[in-house]
Amino acid sequence: MSDKKFYIETYGCQMNFADTEVVNSILIDDGMTPVQSADEADIIFVNTCSIRENAETRVWNRLKEFRSIKKEKKHLTVGVMGCMAERIKDKIIDQEQLVDIVVGPDAYRDIPNLLAEVNDGRKAVNVLLSLEETYADITPVRTSDNGLSAFVSIMRGCDNMCAFCVVPFTRGRERSRPMESILREVQQLSDHGYKEVTLLGQNVNSYQYQDIDFTRLMDEASKVDPEMRFRFSSPHPKDFPEPLLHLIAERPNLCNYIHIPAQAGSDTMLERMRRPYTREQYLKLTKRMREIIPGVSLSTDIIAGFCGETEEEHEATMTLMEQVEYDLAYMFAYSERERTLAQRKYEDDVPEKVKKRRLSEIITQQMNIQEKRNNAEIGNVHIVLAEGTSKKSDKQLSGRSDTNKMVVFDREHYQKGDYVAVEITECTSATLIGKPLYKTTLKEFAAEATKVAV
Ligand code: 5AD
Ligand code: SF4
Repeated sequence: MSDKKFYIETYGCQMNFADTEVVNSILIDDGMTPVQSADEADIIFVNTCSIRENAETRVWNRLKEFRSIKKEKKHLTVGVMGCMAERIKDKIIDQEQLVDIVVGPDAYRDIPNLLAEVNDGRKAVNVLLSLEETYADITPVRTSDNGLSAFVSIMRGCDNMCAFCVVPFTRGRERSRPMESILREVQQLSDHGYKEVTLLGQNVNSYQYQDIDFTRLMDEASKVDPEMRFRFSSPHPKDFPEPLLHLIAERPNLCNYIHIPAQAGSDTMLERMRRPYTREQYLKLTKRMREIIPGVSLSTDIIAGFCGETEEEHEATMTLMEQVEYDLAYMFAYSERERTLAQRKYEDDVPEKVKKRRLSEIITQQMNIQEKRNNAEIGNVHIVLAEGTSKKSDKQLSGRSDTNKMVVFDREHYQKGDYVAVEITECTSATLIGKPLYKTTLKEFAAEATKVAV
Protein backbone atom coordinates (compact mmCIF):
# COMPACT_ATOMS: atom_id res chain seq x y z
CA MET A 1 0.00 0.00 0.00
CA SER A 2 1.10 3.51 -0.68
CA ASP A 3 -0.46 6.87 0.20
CA LYS A 4 1.04 8.80 -2.69
CA LYS A 5 -0.62 11.14 -5.16
CA PHE A 6 -0.63 10.14 -8.81
CA TYR A 7 -1.34 11.81 -12.12
CA ILE A 8 -1.83 10.06 -15.47
CA GLU A 9 -1.40 11.96 -18.71
CA THR A 10 -2.99 10.10 -21.61
CA TYR A 11 -2.18 10.19 -25.32
CA GLY A 12 -3.61 8.24 -28.24
CA CYS A 13 -6.88 6.51 -28.88
CA GLN A 14 -9.98 6.00 -26.75
CA MET A 15 -8.65 2.59 -25.80
CA ASN A 16 -5.77 4.29 -24.05
CA PHE A 17 -8.15 6.58 -22.19
CA ALA A 18 -10.12 3.51 -21.12
CA ASP A 19 -6.88 1.89 -19.91
CA THR A 20 -6.07 4.97 -17.85
CA GLU A 21 -9.39 4.43 -16.04
CA VAL A 22 -8.36 0.83 -15.28
CA VAL A 23 -5.02 2.01 -13.89
CA ASN A 24 -6.83 4.67 -11.81
CA SER A 25 -8.73 1.84 -10.20
CA ILE A 26 -5.61 -0.27 -9.53
CA LEU A 27 -3.73 2.64 -7.96
CA ILE A 28 -6.69 3.83 -5.86
CA ASP A 29 -7.15 0.26 -4.58
CA ASP A 30 -3.52 0.38 -3.54
CA GLY A 31 -4.23 3.46 -1.39
CA MET A 32 -3.12 6.21 -3.75
CA THR A 33 -5.03 9.39 -4.61
CA PRO A 34 -5.57 10.73 -8.13
CA VAL A 35 -4.74 14.42 -8.71
CA GLN A 36 -5.57 16.62 -11.69
CA SER A 37 -2.12 18.03 -12.47
CA ALA A 38 1.47 16.88 -12.75
CA ASP A 39 2.62 19.56 -10.25
CA GLU A 40 0.68 18.02 -7.37
CA ALA A 41 1.80 14.44 -8.05
CA ASP A 42 4.40 12.17 -6.44
CA ILE A 43 4.00 9.74 -9.31
CA ILE A 44 3.41 10.69 -12.93
CA PHE A 45 2.45 8.15 -15.58
CA VAL A 46 2.40 8.95 -19.25
CA ASN A 47 0.05 6.64 -21.13
CA THR A 48 1.65 6.57 -24.54
CA CYS A 49 0.69 5.98 -28.17
CA SER A 50 2.91 4.77 -31.00
CA ILE A 51 0.49 4.76 -33.89
CA ARG A 52 2.38 7.50 -35.77
CA GLU A 53 5.72 9.16 -35.32
CA ASN A 54 4.32 12.49 -34.17
CA ALA A 55 2.42 10.77 -31.32
CA GLU A 56 5.76 9.42 -30.05
CA THR A 57 7.54 12.74 -30.52
CA ARG A 58 5.02 14.49 -28.31
CA VAL A 59 5.58 11.91 -25.57
CA TRP A 60 9.38 12.18 -25.76
CA ASN A 61 9.15 15.95 -25.37
CA ARG A 62 6.85 15.62 -22.40
CA LEU A 63 9.18 13.11 -20.72
CA LYS A 64 12.05 15.53 -21.11
CA GLU A 65 9.98 18.20 -19.35
CA PHE A 66 9.31 15.77 -16.50
CA ARG A 67 13.04 15.00 -16.31
CA SER A 68 13.77 18.64 -15.58
CA ILE A 69 11.04 18.71 -12.89
CA LYS A 70 12.64 15.57 -11.42
CA LYS A 71 15.89 17.48 -10.94
CA GLU A 72 14.12 19.81 -8.51
CA LYS A 73 11.72 17.29 -7.04
CA LYS A 74 13.93 14.33 -6.19
CA HIS A 75 11.18 12.03 -4.90
CA LEU A 76 9.15 12.24 -8.11
CA THR A 77 8.57 8.92 -9.88
CA VAL A 78 7.91 8.95 -13.62
CA GLY A 79 6.46 5.98 -15.45
CA VAL A 80 5.73 5.19 -19.07
CA MET A 81 2.76 2.97 -19.77
CA GLY A 82 0.89 1.94 -22.91
CA CYS A 83 1.89 1.35 -26.47
CA MET A 84 5.41 2.79 -26.47
CA ALA A 85 6.46 0.69 -23.49
CA GLU A 86 7.64 -2.49 -25.20
CA ARG A 87 9.55 -0.91 -28.02
CA ILE A 88 11.48 1.67 -26.09
CA LYS A 89 12.04 0.07 -22.72
CA ASP A 90 15.84 -0.17 -23.13
CA LYS A 91 16.24 3.23 -24.64
CA ILE A 92 14.10 4.89 -22.02
CA ILE A 93 15.66 3.34 -18.97
CA ASP A 94 19.34 2.92 -19.89
CA GLN A 95 20.23 5.68 -22.24
CA GLU A 96 18.16 8.65 -21.32
CA GLN A 97 17.59 8.17 -17.60
CA LEU A 98 14.18 9.60 -18.21
CA VAL A 99 11.87 7.28 -16.36
CA ASP A 100 11.72 4.87 -13.42
CA ILE A 101 8.97 2.53 -14.57
CA VAL A 102 8.00 1.06 -17.91
CA VAL A 103 4.77 -0.92 -17.99
CA GLY A 104 3.05 -2.43 -21.03
CA PRO A 105 -0.72 -2.57 -21.71
CA ASP A 106 -1.20 -6.07 -20.26
CA ALA A 107 0.84 -5.56 -17.09
CA TYR A 108 -1.10 -2.87 -15.25
CA ARG A 109 -1.98 -5.13 -12.33
CA ASP A 110 1.74 -5.27 -11.60
CA ILE A 111 2.11 -1.50 -11.11
CA PRO A 112 1.98 -1.60 -7.27
CA ASN A 113 4.86 -4.13 -7.31
CA LEU A 114 6.79 -2.05 -9.81
CA LEU A 115 6.37 1.02 -7.60
CA ALA A 116 7.72 -0.98 -4.67
CA GLU A 117 10.80 -1.87 -6.73
CA VAL A 118 11.36 1.80 -7.47
CA ASN A 119 11.09 2.54 -3.75
CA ASP A 120 13.90 0.06 -3.25
CA GLY A 121 16.03 2.10 -5.62
CA ARG A 122 15.64 0.02 -8.75
CA LYS A 123 14.19 0.75 -12.17
CA ALA A 124 11.15 -1.42 -12.84
CA VAL A 125 9.92 -2.91 -16.11
CA ASN A 126 7.08 -5.21 -17.07
CA VAL A 127 6.11 -5.27 -20.73
CA LEU A 128 4.85 -8.83 -20.95
CA LEU A 129 1.87 -9.26 -23.23
CA SER A 130 -0.84 -11.69 -22.29
CA LEU A 131 -3.24 -13.99 -24.11
CA GLU A 132 -5.92 -13.64 -21.45
CA GLU A 133 -5.80 -10.29 -19.67
CA THR A 134 -8.97 -8.24 -20.21
CA TYR A 135 -9.11 -6.52 -16.78
CA ALA A 136 -12.65 -7.90 -16.67
CA ASP A 137 -12.93 -7.77 -12.88
CA ILE A 138 -11.63 -4.22 -12.52
CA THR A 139 -14.20 -1.43 -12.43
CA PRO A 140 -12.63 1.53 -14.21
CA VAL A 141 -12.51 4.79 -12.24
CA ARG A 142 -13.50 7.71 -14.44
CA THR A 143 -11.86 10.87 -13.13
CA SER A 144 -12.09 13.18 -16.09
CA ASP A 145 -15.14 12.48 -18.25
CA ASN A 146 -18.37 14.49 -18.35
CA GLY A 147 -20.38 11.99 -16.26
CA LEU A 148 -22.62 11.26 -19.26
CA SER A 149 -20.55 9.52 -21.93
CA ALA A 150 -18.28 6.60 -21.14
CA PHE A 151 -16.05 4.20 -23.05
CA VAL A 152 -16.19 0.53 -22.20
CA SER A 153 -13.50 -1.77 -23.45
CA ILE A 154 -14.86 -5.09 -24.78
CA MET A 155 -11.71 -6.66 -26.13
CA ARG A 156 -7.96 -6.14 -26.31
CA GLY A 157 -5.25 -6.61 -28.91
CA CYS A 158 -5.58 -7.26 -32.61
CA ASP A 159 -4.87 -10.22 -34.91
CA ASN A 160 -5.42 -8.42 -38.19
CA MET A 161 -1.88 -7.49 -39.09
CA CYS A 162 -2.59 -4.59 -41.44
CA ALA A 163 0.78 -3.87 -43.05
CA PHE A 164 1.07 -0.33 -41.66
CA CYS A 165 -0.07 -0.93 -38.09
CA VAL A 166 1.96 -1.28 -34.93
CA VAL A 167 -0.97 -2.24 -32.70
CA PRO A 168 -0.56 -6.05 -32.88
CA PHE A 169 3.00 -5.55 -31.63
CA THR A 170 2.21 -3.07 -28.88
CA ARG A 171 -1.05 -4.60 -27.66
CA GLY A 172 -0.66 -8.26 -28.51
CA ARG A 173 -3.15 -10.91 -29.54
CA GLU A 174 -6.85 -10.40 -29.70
CA ARG A 175 -8.98 -11.51 -26.75
CA SER A 176 -12.57 -10.74 -25.79
CA ARG A 177 -13.83 -9.72 -22.40
CA PRO A 178 -16.59 -11.89 -20.90
CA MET A 179 -20.04 -10.50 -21.73
CA GLU A 180 -21.26 -10.63 -18.10
CA SER A 181 -18.50 -8.28 -17.03
CA ILE A 182 -19.27 -5.84 -19.87
CA LEU A 183 -22.99 -5.85 -19.02
CA ARG A 184 -22.19 -5.34 -15.34
CA GLU A 185 -20.13 -2.26 -16.16
CA VAL A 186 -22.88 -0.90 -18.43
CA GLN A 187 -25.41 -1.41 -15.62
CA GLN A 188 -23.16 0.44 -13.16
CA LEU A 189 -22.79 3.32 -15.61
CA SER A 190 -26.54 3.50 -16.03
CA ASP A 191 -26.98 3.49 -12.23
CA HIS A 192 -24.57 6.42 -12.05
CA GLY A 193 -26.54 8.47 -14.57
CA TYR A 194 -24.43 7.90 -17.69
CA LYS A 195 -26.42 8.28 -20.91
CA GLU A 196 -24.06 7.12 -23.61
CA VAL A 197 -21.61 4.24 -23.92
CA THR A 198 -19.12 3.51 -26.69
CA LEU A 199 -18.00 -0.10 -26.80
CA LEU A 200 -14.34 -0.22 -27.70
CA GLY A 201 -11.99 -2.66 -29.32
CA GLN A 202 -9.34 -2.67 -32.01
CA ASN A 203 -11.60 -4.82 -34.15
CA VAL A 204 -15.01 -5.04 -32.54
CA ASN A 205 -16.80 -7.25 -35.05
CA SER A 206 -14.48 -10.10 -34.23
CA TYR A 207 -15.70 -10.01 -30.61
CA GLN A 208 -16.31 -13.61 -29.60
CA TYR A 209 -16.88 -14.81 -26.09
CA GLN A 210 -17.98 -18.44 -25.93
CA ASP A 211 -20.91 -18.49 -28.39
CA ILE A 212 -21.59 -14.75 -28.11
CA ASP A 213 -20.71 -12.61 -31.11
CA PHE A 214 -20.67 -8.84 -31.47
CA THR A 215 -24.27 -8.51 -32.67
CA ARG A 216 -25.50 -10.48 -29.65
CA LEU A 217 -23.35 -8.35 -27.36
CA MET A 218 -24.84 -5.13 -28.79
CA ASP A 219 -28.30 -6.64 -28.46
CA GLU A 220 -27.77 -7.50 -24.78
CA ALA A 221 -25.96 -4.26 -23.91
CA SER A 222 -28.69 -2.12 -25.44
CA LYS A 223 -31.31 -3.96 -23.36
CA VAL A 224 -29.60 -3.04 -20.07
CA ASP A 225 -31.04 0.48 -20.24
CA PRO A 226 -33.26 1.54 -23.16
CA GLU A 227 -32.60 5.22 -22.38
CA MET A 228 -28.83 4.85 -22.61
CA ARG A 229 -27.53 5.09 -26.16
CA PHE A 230 -24.72 3.01 -27.64
CA ARG A 231 -21.96 3.43 -30.19
CA PHE A 232 -19.01 1.22 -31.00
CA SER A 233 -15.53 1.61 -32.42
CA SER A 234 -14.02 0.22 -34.60
CA PRO A 235 -15.40 -2.49 -36.85
CA HIS A 236 -13.49 -3.93 -39.83
CA PRO A 237 -15.03 -3.80 -43.33
CA LYS A 238 -13.90 -7.35 -44.11
CA ASP A 239 -16.56 -9.05 -41.99
CA PHE A 240 -19.13 -6.51 -40.80
CA PRO A 241 -22.23 -8.52 -39.77
CA GLU A 242 -25.38 -7.52 -41.63
CA PRO A 243 -27.69 -8.59 -38.75
CA LEU A 244 -26.11 -5.78 -36.73
CA LEU A 245 -27.32 -3.24 -39.31
CA HIS A 246 -30.89 -4.48 -38.85
CA LEU A 247 -30.51 -4.33 -35.09
CA ILE A 248 -29.25 -0.73 -35.27
CA ALA A 249 -32.16 0.20 -37.55
CA GLU A 250 -34.67 -1.28 -35.14
CA ARG A 251 -33.35 -0.27 -31.71
CA PRO A 252 -33.82 3.38 -30.74
CA ASN A 253 -30.79 3.31 -28.44
CA LEU A 254 -28.30 1.98 -31.00
CA CYS A 255 -26.95 5.12 -32.63
CA ASN A 256 -27.26 5.64 -36.36
CA TYR A 257 -23.54 6.15 -36.75
CA ILE A 258 -20.85 3.76 -37.96
CA HIS A 259 -17.11 4.34 -38.10
CA ILE A 260 -15.94 2.05 -40.88
CA PRO A 261 -12.25 2.59 -41.70
CA ALA A 262 -11.51 2.24 -45.44
CA GLN A 263 -7.80 3.28 -45.30
CA ALA A 264 -7.58 3.44 -49.12
CA GLY A 265 -9.70 3.27 -52.25
CA SER A 266 -7.90 0.99 -54.74
CA ASP A 267 -7.69 -2.78 -54.76
CA THR A 268 -3.93 -2.72 -55.34
CA MET A 269 -3.34 -0.49 -52.32
CA LEU A 270 -5.77 -2.43 -50.12
CA GLU A 271 -3.88 -5.57 -50.99
CA ARG A 272 -0.51 -4.02 -50.13
CA MET A 273 -2.00 -2.79 -46.88
CA ARG A 274 -3.21 -6.37 -46.17
CA ARG A 275 -6.80 -5.21 -45.93
CA PRO A 276 -8.77 -8.22 -47.15
CA TYR A 277 -11.62 -6.50 -49.05
CA THR A 278 -11.97 -4.80 -52.41
CA ARG A 279 -13.16 -1.32 -53.24
CA GLU A 280 -16.33 -2.84 -54.65
CA GLN A 281 -17.02 -4.87 -51.50
CA TYR A 282 -16.43 -1.80 -49.36
CA LEU A 283 -18.80 0.32 -51.48
CA LYS A 284 -21.42 -2.41 -51.35
CA LEU A 285 -21.15 -2.55 -47.56
CA THR A 286 -21.55 1.21 -47.09
CA LYS A 287 -24.50 1.16 -49.53
CA ARG A 288 -26.17 -1.56 -47.42
CA MET A 289 -25.55 0.55 -44.33
CA ARG A 290 -27.36 3.49 -45.89
CA GLU A 291 -30.20 1.31 -47.21
CA ILE A 292 -30.85 -0.54 -43.96
CA ILE A 293 -30.35 2.39 -41.57
CA PRO A 294 -32.01 5.48 -43.04
CA GLY A 295 -30.05 8.63 -42.19
CA VAL A 296 -27.04 6.71 -40.89
CA SER A 297 -23.87 8.75 -40.72
CA LEU A 298 -20.57 7.18 -41.69
CA SER A 299 -17.01 8.03 -40.83
CA THR A 300 -13.67 6.56 -41.85
CA ASP A 301 -9.90 6.47 -41.40
CA ILE A 302 -7.73 7.20 -44.44
CA ILE A 303 -3.97 6.94 -44.91
CA ALA A 304 -2.26 9.07 -47.56
CA GLY A 305 1.11 8.17 -49.04
CA PHE A 306 1.44 4.54 -47.99
CA CYS A 307 4.39 2.64 -49.54
CA GLY A 308 4.42 2.65 -53.34
CA GLU A 309 1.30 4.80 -53.63
CA THR A 310 0.83 5.96 -57.23
CA GLU A 311 -1.09 9.01 -58.33
CA GLU A 312 -3.86 6.69 -59.62
CA GLU A 313 -4.13 4.97 -56.26
CA HIS A 314 -4.37 8.34 -54.55
CA GLU A 315 -7.11 9.34 -57.01
CA ALA A 316 -8.95 6.11 -56.20
CA THR A 317 -8.93 7.07 -52.50
CA MET A 318 -10.33 10.48 -53.44
CA THR A 319 -13.12 9.00 -55.57
CA LEU A 320 -14.00 6.42 -52.92
CA MET A 321 -14.44 9.22 -50.40
CA GLU A 322 -16.47 11.22 -52.88
CA GLN A 323 -18.72 8.26 -53.57
CA VAL A 324 -19.34 7.31 -49.95
CA GLU A 325 -19.74 10.93 -48.80
CA TYR A 326 -18.53 10.46 -45.26
CA ASP A 327 -19.88 12.68 -42.53
CA LEU A 328 -16.52 12.62 -40.81
CA ALA A 329 -13.03 11.33 -41.64
CA TYR A 330 -9.79 10.89 -39.73
CA MET A 331 -7.05 11.43 -42.29
CA PHE A 332 -3.34 10.74 -41.82
CA ALA A 333 -0.05 10.79 -43.70
CA TYR A 334 1.62 7.38 -43.57
CA SER A 335 4.36 7.10 -41.00
CA GLU A 336 6.59 4.02 -40.91
CA ARG A 337 6.44 1.95 -37.73
CA GLU A 338 9.05 -0.52 -36.57
CA ARG A 339 8.32 -4.25 -36.83
CA THR A 340 5.31 -3.84 -39.11
CA LEU A 341 5.12 -5.75 -42.38
CA ALA A 342 5.46 -2.51 -44.31
CA GLN A 343 8.69 -1.65 -42.53
CA ARG A 344 10.13 -5.10 -43.14
CA LYS A 345 8.98 -5.63 -46.72
CA TYR A 346 8.28 -2.31 -48.43
CA GLU A 347 10.00 0.97 -48.90
CA ASP A 348 8.52 4.13 -47.44
CA ASP A 349 9.09 5.73 -50.84
CA VAL A 350 6.45 8.44 -51.23
CA PRO A 351 8.33 11.71 -50.68
CA GLU A 352 7.20 13.69 -47.62
CA LYS A 353 6.13 16.57 -49.86
CA VAL A 354 3.92 14.30 -51.99
CA LYS A 355 2.37 12.70 -48.87
CA LYS A 356 1.54 16.17 -47.52
CA ARG A 357 0.05 17.32 -50.82
CA ARG A 358 -2.11 14.21 -51.17
CA LEU A 359 -3.25 14.44 -47.56
CA SER A 360 -4.18 18.05 -48.02
CA GLU A 361 -6.18 17.23 -51.18
CA ILE A 362 -8.00 14.53 -49.24
CA ILE A 363 -8.74 16.89 -46.35
CA THR A 364 -9.95 19.72 -48.58
CA GLN A 365 -12.30 17.43 -50.46
CA GLN A 366 -13.61 15.99 -47.18
CA MET A 367 -14.30 19.46 -45.73
CA ASN A 368 -16.35 20.30 -48.81
CA ILE A 369 -18.30 17.06 -48.54
CA GLN A 370 -18.98 17.68 -44.85
CA GLU A 371 -20.16 21.19 -45.51
CA LYS A 372 -22.51 19.92 -48.19
CA ARG A 373 -23.84 17.13 -45.97
CA ASN A 374 -24.26 19.46 -43.02
CA ASN A 375 -26.12 21.99 -45.21
CA ALA A 376 -28.51 19.23 -46.20
CA GLU A 377 -29.33 18.84 -42.49
CA ILE A 378 -30.99 22.26 -42.29
CA GLY A 379 -34.65 21.76 -41.42
CA ASN A 380 -34.08 18.26 -39.99
CA VAL A 381 -34.85 17.47 -36.37
CA HIS A 382 -32.24 15.53 -34.38
CA ILE A 383 -32.25 14.05 -30.91
CA VAL A 384 -29.29 15.58 -29.10
CA LEU A 385 -27.82 14.57 -25.75
CA ALA A 386 -26.99 17.86 -24.02
CA GLU A 387 -23.42 17.31 -22.83
CA GLY A 388 -22.68 20.71 -21.36
CA THR A 389 -22.19 24.40 -21.95
CA SER A 390 -21.05 25.30 -25.46
CA LYS A 391 -17.45 26.49 -25.79
CA LYS A 392 -18.49 29.81 -27.32
CA SER A 393 -21.30 30.95 -25.04
CA ASP A 394 -22.69 29.95 -21.66
CA LYS A 395 -26.17 30.75 -22.95
CA GLN A 396 -25.88 27.74 -25.23
CA LEU A 397 -25.60 24.00 -24.73
CA SER A 398 -23.77 21.59 -26.96
CA GLY A 399 -24.04 17.89 -27.49
CA ARG A 400 -24.03 15.18 -30.11
CA SER A 401 -26.81 14.00 -32.33
CA ASP A 402 -27.57 10.33 -32.58
CA THR A 403 -25.54 10.53 -35.81
CA ASN A 404 -22.51 11.81 -33.85
CA LYS A 405 -22.62 15.40 -35.10
CA MET A 406 -21.84 18.22 -32.72
CA VAL A 407 -24.95 20.38 -32.27
CA VAL A 408 -25.13 23.76 -30.51
CA PHE A 409 -28.45 25.24 -29.35
CA ASP A 410 -29.87 27.84 -26.93
CA ARG A 411 -29.87 26.66 -23.35
CA GLU A 412 -33.39 27.95 -22.47
CA HIS A 413 -34.63 25.64 -19.68
CA TYR A 414 -32.73 22.54 -20.85
CA GLN A 415 -30.07 20.87 -18.76
CA LYS A 416 -26.97 18.79 -19.16
CA GLY A 417 -28.06 15.16 -19.51
CA ASP A 418 -31.37 15.92 -21.25
CA TYR A 419 -32.24 14.44 -24.61
CA VAL A 420 -33.48 17.41 -26.62
CA ALA A 421 -35.20 17.43 -30.03
CA VAL A 422 -33.37 20.13 -31.98
CA GLU A 423 -34.28 21.56 -35.37
CA ILE A 424 -31.17 22.37 -37.39
CA THR A 425 -31.11 25.96 -38.67
CA GLU A 426 -27.47 26.64 -39.62
CA CYS A 427 -24.17 24.84 -39.96
CA THR A 428 -20.42 24.90 -40.53
CA SER A 429 -18.36 21.95 -41.82
CA ALA A 430 -17.84 20.80 -38.22
CA THR A 431 -20.94 21.87 -36.27
CA LEU A 432 -24.71 22.03 -36.61
CA ILE A 433 -26.56 24.92 -35.00
CA GLY A 434 -30.19 24.52 -34.09
CA LYS A 435 -33.35 25.52 -32.24
CA PRO A 436 -34.40 23.34 -29.30
CA LEU A 437 -38.00 22.13 -29.66
CA TYR A 438 -38.76 19.92 -26.67
CA LYS A 439 -37.23 17.57 -24.14
CA THR A 440 -37.67 13.98 -25.19
CA THR A 441 -36.61 10.36 -24.64
CA LEU A 442 -35.04 7.87 -27.03
CA LYS A 443 -38.25 5.87 -27.11
CA GLU A 444 -40.54 8.84 -27.68
CA PHE A 445 -38.35 10.36 -30.35
CA ALA A 446 -38.14 7.07 -32.25
CA ALA A 447 -41.94 6.73 -32.12
CA GLU A 448 -42.29 10.32 -33.46
CA ALA A 449 -39.85 9.57 -36.29
CA THR A 450 -41.78 6.43 -37.25
CA LYS A 451 -45.04 8.42 -37.34
CA VAL A 452 -43.47 11.05 -39.59
CA ALA A 453 -42.07 8.36 -41.91
CA VAL A 454 -45.49 6.69 -42.21
N1 5AD B 1 0.72 5.72 -40.33
C1 5AD B 1 -0.35 6.54 -40.48
N2 5AD B 1 -1.58 6.24 -40.00
C2 5AD B 1 -1.73 5.05 -39.37
N3 5AD B 1 -2.80 4.47 -38.81
C3 5AD B 1 -2.41 3.30 -38.29
N4 5AD B 1 -1.11 3.09 -38.52
C4 5AD B 1 -0.66 4.16 -39.19
C5 5AD B 1 0.62 4.53 -39.70
N5 5AD B 1 1.67 3.74 -39.58
C6 5AD B 1 -4.14 5.07 -38.84
C7 5AD B 1 -5.15 4.12 -39.50
C8 5AD B 1 -5.94 3.60 -38.34
C9 5AD B 1 -5.92 4.78 -37.40
C10 5AD B 1 -6.24 4.46 -35.98
O1 5AD B 1 -4.60 5.27 -37.51
O2 5AD B 1 -5.94 4.88 -40.37
O3 5AD B 1 -7.24 3.20 -38.68
FE1 SF4 C 1 -4.29 3.31 -29.41
FE2 SF4 C 1 -2.86 2.21 -31.35
FE3 SF4 C 1 -2.07 4.48 -30.28
FE4 SF4 C 1 -1.92 2.18 -28.95
S1 SF4 C 1 -0.81 2.68 -30.81
S2 SF4 C 1 -2.69 4.15 -28.18
S3 SF4 C 1 -3.74 1.14 -29.64
S4 SF4 C 1 -3.91 4.21 -31.44
